[in-house]
Amino acid sequence: MVMFDVVFQLLVLLFSKVKMVVIYQVTFFSGDATHSSTFNDVFLTLVGTESSSERTKLSRFFKEKMLTFEVKYPEPIGQILVIKLEKLHHLLLNQPWFLAKIELKSLAGKIYQFPVYQWITDCEEHCFREGKAALNFDDSNSLLKNYRKHELEERQKVYCWDQYKKMLPYCMKAESFKSLPLDVRFSTTKEVEMGYTAAKALIELRIEELAECKTKWESMEDIDRLYRCHRTDISDYVHAHWKEDAFFGYQFLNGIHPMMIQRCETLPPNFPVSDQMVFSNSPLHLGDEMKNGNIFLCDYKILDGVKANIINKKQQYVVAPLVLLHKTPENQMMPIAIQLQQTPGKKNPIFFPTDSKWDWLLAKTFVRNADFNVHELSAHLLRTHLLAEDFAVAVLRNLPMVHPLYKLLIPHTRYTLMINFLARKLLISENGVFTKFASSGGDGMFSILSRSISSVTYRSLCLPDDIADRGLEDVPNFYYRDDGLKLWNIIHRFVQGILVFYYKDDKMVQKDSELQAWIKDIFQKGFLGNKDTGVPEKLDTVDELVKFVTMVIFTCSAQHSAVNSGQYDFDGWMPNTPVSIDLPPPTTKGTADEAMLLRAFPHINTTVNGMATVWLLSKQSTDSVFLGNYPEELFTEDIPLQKKRAFKEDLMKLSEEINQRNEHLDLPYIYLDPKLVENSVSL
Ligand code: FE2
Repeated sequence: MVMFDVVFQLLVLLFSKVKMVVIYQVTFFSGDATHSSTFNDVFLTLVGTESSSERTKLSRFFKEKMLTFEVKYPEPIGQILVIKLEKLHHLLLNQPWFLAKIELKSLAGKIYQFPVYQWITDCEEHCFREGKAALNFDDSNSLLKNYRKHELEERQKVYCWDQYKKMLPYCMKAESFKSLPLDVRFSTTKEVEMGYTAAKALIELRIEELAECKTKWESMEDIDRLYRCHRTDISDYVHAHWKEDAFFGYQFLNGIHPMMIQRCETLPPNFPVSDQMVFSNSPLHLGDEMKNGNIFLCDYKILDGVKANIINKKQQYVVAPLVLLHKTPENQMMPIAIQLQQTPGKKNPIFFPTDSKWDWLLAKTFVRNADFNVHELSAHLLRTHLLAEDFAVAVLRNLPMVHPLYKLLIPHTRYTLMINFLARKLLISENGVFTKFASSGGDGMFSILSRSISSVTYRSLCLPDDIADRGLEDVPNFYYRDDGLKLWNIIHRFVQGILVFYYKDDKMVQKDSELQAWIKDIFQKGFLGNKDTGVPEKLDTVDELVKFVTMVIFTCSAQHSAVNSGQYDFDGWMPNTPVSIDLPPPTTKGTADEAMLLRAFPHINTTVNGMATVWLLSKQSTDSVFLGNYPEELFTEDIPLQKKRAFKEDLMKLSEEINQRNEHLDLPYIYLDPKLVENSVSL
C-alpha cells in the first residue's frame, strides 16, 4: 500500500499534462476535554520520504471536534513520516489546544494516522510521527532519529526528578499544581468534581459542625448517629459485624489491606504463645496446626518504637502488635492471640478470645489502628501511589511517543502525577489531614515510610510471587488472591501479546537503549538503587520485560484498586478502624469496659476528619477510565489492536465470573472486578 501510494504520486507527475498537484485531506480531531479548541491559525508541514512540503497556513476556528482541510503541494512527498505543526501567535487569544489525532488521506486513498493526545500550549514547532510503533534501532532515517532524540530532550526539561524527603522514592518536580504540564493535570471535569467533593465533604456528610469538636465520644449511640449520615452496603455489613472474630480475621484476607497476613510455621521468639493458651479446651495442638498449615501471623514490627502523634494537645499511641490466627475446619480465619507490643513481658499481656469481651475487643481495636497506619502509608501511599509516579516519570523521560512501551504504559499513568502532588500537599504536609489526625501523623509517618521502603522487594510487587512467599496459595475464601491472580494472568497475556510483536528475540530487548534507560531510571529513582530489592536495573530477555511491565500495569490498576476503593467501606464506621488511639495499650487484663473503649477512640473532630477523607478518597470521578479501556488510539497496527480487543473480552469474562461468585457471598468482594478497577492511580 505504501509503495502503491508513492508510485501513484510519480505516475500522476509523469503523465499529467498540467502542473503536478499532490492533494491530501487532513483531518484534525480535537479532544473531548473542555476548552480543547483553539482560535489560532495553524501552520502545517508534511515530511515524507521524498521531500518536505511547504509550510501551509490553515485558517479556521478549531472549535469542532473534527475539522478537515484539503492541502495541495506541487511536488510528491513520498511516504509521510512526520507532521509538523505550529500555532500562529495571536495577540489576544492563545488558549491551549488539546489535539487528539491527525488523519491524513492521500489521493490514492491511503490513510495515515498520527496520534497526538497532547495539549499544544505554545507557538513552537511540534512534530508528530505516524502511528506505527518503532524501536530506536528500527529508525534508519536520520531525520527520524533526530526527532526522536529531540522529543526526549524536550520532555526531560519538563519532567524533572525531585525528592520530597530524602528517604522517599523520587517524585515529579513541581512548585505548584499549576506548574504541572497540562498533559498530566486533571481534566476540568475531574478538577471541578474533586474540588467540589473536597470542599463539600463535611457538608455532604452533614457533619460540618462536628469537625471542630475536640471532645470525646460519650456513647456508641453518638458514633452510630454520625455513621448514619453516610453509608454503603459494605459499610453497613462492617457496622453489623465489626466485633466478630470471624470478621476481624476475614479483613486480613479480603479487607483493604490483604498484605499483612502470612502462614506461620514457627512462632517468632518474641511471641511466646503456648498450646495451653490457645487450645486449652480443644483436642488441637498449636505445633500440629502449624505443621498442617493452619496457623497464620500478622506481625506489625514495622511500627515498633514509632513516635506517635499529638492531637488536640493530647498524646496519641501507636502499637506494634503480633496477631496469631487459626484457620478453623469451617474455613474461618479466627484470631487466637494478640500481643500489642513487640517485647514480651508482664506489662505486655497476650490477649485471647477467652478474656473478657472488652479486653479482647480493646486489643483488636489497637490492632485495627496499627493496620490503618501500615495500610495507608505502606500498602497504599508507597506501594501504589509513589511507585506509580516513578513508573510514570520514567516513561515520560525515557520513551518517545513512537515507542511501543510508551503507547502501552502511558494510559496507566493518567492523573497519577497530579493526585500525588495533591497527596503531598493535602495529606502528608505539615498541615495535611494525615499529619494532623492519624496516630502516626508527623515524624512517625516518615519512620513508617522509611522502614516500608526497606521492605519493598520485586517479588512482593508481583502477586504470584507474593502469594507464594507468604504461603497463602491454598487459603480458602481468599478472594483478593483469587481475583488478583486471574487479573495478573490476563494482564500478563495482554502485555506478552503486544510486546512479542515488537521484540522478536532477547537481543532486541538488550539493544533497546531507550528501554534500558527507562528501567534504570525506575531502579535508581523509584527503588533508590537498592539491589536488595531484587528489582532489575536492566532487562535481558523478553520474558523479563513482560513480567516487569505486567507488574507496572497491575500495580497502577488492580493493586491500587484493592487497597484504595474500599476505604470508606471499611473505615467509615470508625470503631472498626480508628484513625488514632487516645489511650496507652493496656498493661493488665480485667480493667477494660465500654467506657475505656470510648476513651481509646479518637476525639470527635479526629473521627470526622478521618471519615471525610476516606470518603473523598473512595469517590471515583465521572471521567474515570477503567481497566482495558483505551480511549486514546495510540496503537494503529492490527496486532496490537487485536490484543486490546482480546484483553477487554478477557476482562469482561472475569467481571461476570466475579459477579456470579459474589451473588453467593454475604459480603461480596468487589475491588478487583475489572469494571471497577481504574487504569491508573488517579485517586
Ligand atoms: Fe489512592
